Amino acid sequence: MAPKILFVLTSHNKLGNLDKPTGWYLPELAHPYHVLHKKAEITVASPKGGESPLDPSSVEAAKDDVSVNFLKNNESVWKNTQKLDQFVGKAKDFDAIFYVGGHGPMFDLVDNPISQQLIREFWEADKIVSAVCHAPAVFYDVKLSDGSLLVAGKEVTAFTNTEEEQAGLTDVVPFLPENALQKASGGKFVKAAEPWGEKVVISGRLITGQNPASATAVGEAIAKALGI
Ligand SMILES: *[C@@H]1O[C@H](CO)[C@@H](O)[C@H](O)[C@H]1NC(C)=O
Repeated sequence: MAPKILFVLTSHNKLGNLDKPTGWYLPELAHPYHVLHKKAEITVASPKGGESPLDPSSVEAAKDDVSVNFLKNNESVWKNTQKLDQFVGKAKDFDAIFYVGGHGPMFDLVDNPISQQLIREFWEADKIVSAVCHAPAVFYDVKLSDGSLLVAGKEVTAFTNTEEEQAGLTDVVPFLPENALQKASGGKFVKAAEPWGEKVVISGRLITGQNPASATAVGEAIAKALGI
């Protein structure tokens, strides 16, 4: 039977206090979806359910074939998401959970008790827990049943401070993923040699990717961890 993966998208569409749209970042869903959709059964959820907002700036930026085809052929993937709270208590029905990046998750999936509970349940049920770009930020404050932080002592990566600076959004995000994960992991944050370079970190069942360029490799790492 094909493994089952729960993909989690944001429902948040506004960039902090700026009057600018945000959401999820096109290649960070398109690329892992491309790698995994024929080998796994993918279910997509978001806090509010229904349509999850696609960051229009990512449509401008991502002109690769996989992203363009996904945009053209796969609207149903992000327009008909299920509500996240339905999956509480269902970790046993899945093999992995994957959080798609973009700035949206920084606003609605970090201090989100439903999301934190899901991550804890997936982790404690020995499932794969994964995310790319800004989405690893959703892990930083997740506490396990014994009170310890999920990422404590584990190598992790995410969108870096330099990348946020170059994106011009350092003062707009509620916090910087690199700083939060560096602290929560106890100094185990790692990154590519150069900003925007591909970097995937596999810490046992915790899989994180640094940025949009890492999205395909994160999908491949999830596939490998699932043995597909
Ligand atoms: C996504 O698009 C591909 C073709 O590029 C198709 O094979 C697949 O069934 C689509 N999936 C969904 C859920 O629309």
